[in-house]
Amino acid sequence: MSMERNKQLIVALDGDWDLDGVSHIAGLLAGEVGMAKIGKRLFTRFGPEVVRRVRNTGLPVFLDLKFHDIPNTVATAVGEAVHLGVSMLTLHAAGGREMLKRAKAGALEEAGRLGVLPPSIVAVTVLTSLDDASLSEVGVSGGVSAQVERLSRLAYECDLDGVVASPMEIGLIRKVCGHDFLLVTPGIRPSGKVAGDDQSRVLTPAAAIKEGVDYIVVGRPIYGASDPVEAARQIVAEMETV
Ligand code: C5P
Repeated sequence: MSMERNKQLIVALDGDWDLDGVSHIAGLLAGEVGMAKIGKRLFTRFGPEVVRRVRNTGLPVFLDLKFHDIPNTVATAVGEAVHLGVSMLTLHAAGGREMLKRAKAGALEEAGRLGVLPPSIVAVTVLTSLDDASLSEVGVSGGVSAQVERLSRLAYECDLDGVVASPMEIGLIRKVCGHDFLLVTPGIRPSGKVAGDDQSRVLTPAAAIKEGVDYIVVGRPIYGASDPVEAARQIVAEMETV
């Protein structure tokens, strides 16, 4: 059992808060979880201030904006994210080799300039909202698994730190990229809880840790609970059974 399991728990902050509400929930969870994921909703609503608010509570920030643009634009945006002090960020592996390499280089360069640790850069391969048919419609004909495999390998070759992986993809990606590559896995539901939301293929926290993922991402089961601290503690307790 690891004493540091809580560091592997990332809370997704996707709720309908104002800035003080964000500070409040982040402050509650700061001693309980390893990181807070800020995505497009809160970032579009509040901008960089929301990152500062969460960091001020002591919680490291995972900026989930899934960058996908021309290499120079992504490299400079990644530099800005480093400047904001984020610890992890996402981009789309489908942006291609040059974009991925420039993103990594941009992170290292800005971190070096500031004298800070570079953030982990993790790639999204195929959104779990897409299936074989919808992928084919956008010109990818080999199916989801083949595309996940192809893009994971590309991210690995470009020296990214890992990928966001659905519970169904963990084994495949480990086979392709080995163990020195971060797997960040959403779609986690505590045991005994019927999902009752839009997550369909889910794993429990313990099962995900047993599968060897590095981080699990949990949103609504924590921030939507009547007692978010207790909900986070229960999830960590489940992780610690592994
Ligand atoms: O509330 P819930 O635990 O479902 O939140 C999961 C988080 O992970 C959300 O921010 C969601 O956007 C994100 N995510 C996901 N499934 C993916 C990729 C990201 O649920 N395949």
